[in-house]
Amino acid sequence: MNIAGKHFRTIWLHPQDTRIVQIIDQRQLPHEFVIEDLTSVDEVARAIKEMHVRGAGLIGAAAGYGMAIAAYHAPRDSEAAFMAALQADGEKLKATRPTAVNLAWAVERQLTTIGAAPGIEAKIQTAAATAQAIADEDADYCRRIGQHGVSLIEAVSQNKNGDVVNILTHCNAGWLAFVDYGSATAPIYAAHDAGIAVHVWVDETRPRNQGARLTAWELGQHGVPHTVIADNVGGHLMQHGLVDMVIVGTDRTTYTGDVGNKIGTYLKALAAFDNGIPFYTALPSSSFDWQMRDGVREIPIEQRDATEVRQIRGLHEGTIKGVLLTPPDSPAANYAFDVTPARLVTVLITERGICAASEEGVLGLFPEKRFANDE
Ligand code: MRU
Repeated sequence: MNIAGKHFRTIWLHPQDTRIVQIIDQRQLPHEFVIEDLTSVDEVARAIKEMHVRGAGLIGAAAGYGMAIAAYHAPRDSEAAFMAALQADGEKLKATRPTAVNLAWAVERQLTTIGAAPGIEAKIQTAAATAQAIADEDADYCRRIGQHGVSLIEAVSQNKNGDVVNILTHCNAGWLAFVDYGSATAPIYAAHDAGIAVHVWVDETRPRNQGARLTAWELGQHGVPHTVIADNVGGHLMQHGLVDMVIVGTDRTTYTGDVGNKIGTYLKALAAFDNGIPFYTALPSSSFDWQMRDGVREIPIEQRDATEVRQIRGLHEGTIKGVLLTPPDSPAANYAFDVTPARLVTVLITERGICAASEEGVLGLFPEKRFANDE
């Protein structure tokens, strides 16, 4: 992504000291562009938990880099002590947020590859190389999602004789939720770059407003026409022919095609279904849960602090601050994710191509996972 003409990823190593990881502190966007240094596993864990970094792919990449930092600081007296420290740091990172499967996937990938490297020096180098591979792969997979997904937008554009294709998205499954490109936004950026006229309806996405703050900002940086809407508007727009397709991301999708995503996604899928509008989910394979069959029952749903519901944050007289919305004593609940059953998902867009949101569809694209449950 280009920010004011300069290419950025969302996470990278400090150019002068590769033991330091640099991130964009997303809590401050769109009002301030703040780069933060992370130097310890505790700092990485806090950055994930308090959502300096967020979004499935980026959480995974941050965990990958966190494990590389863990390896630099682990005791070197014996391989057993080294690996025990890494296990503990891995658990600490995994405990930060429960829903996005990319987090545990990245930690487990690190532990497996580090464990296989011979000797402590090789383990440290392997941890650094694997962190970089996870980040590079995330960017590459999202780019490919764009290449596959653009055909869906192109087809609608042709049907409309080049008229604007209206796409509704929820939350931020954009560049900021990954290392680059994004998942839901990758086909949109690819279409825009190819000269296809697109316009994006951006759900504000209460309570943390990732749509209004982050998706709107990154689409604007890329020059993609968009309109921010309140969360409840989508159904009305669909009834009046103002939405051609919905594209969302996911934090965890079962291998049977149930889509766990930001709270409110399910209602958009119901409205799309009722109005015969295609509902697409874009994801890299790191967001599949190869063990879970029943998303509604099994995907862990994060519940966050009720303050996020009771307050709204924004810029006031030059300072970012929270403002109380509710009566001071009203209790509030903050369910952060919901699950859209596979039957409401038109297709999945992955780095390997497009498939039905079903066990056969998913395993057809990823045949090597066919026996994951038997292992
Ligand atoms: O709570 P967040 O901001 O980490 O939520 C994750 C998301 O951004 C969304 O659920 C997104 O649509 C999927 S992540 C690619």
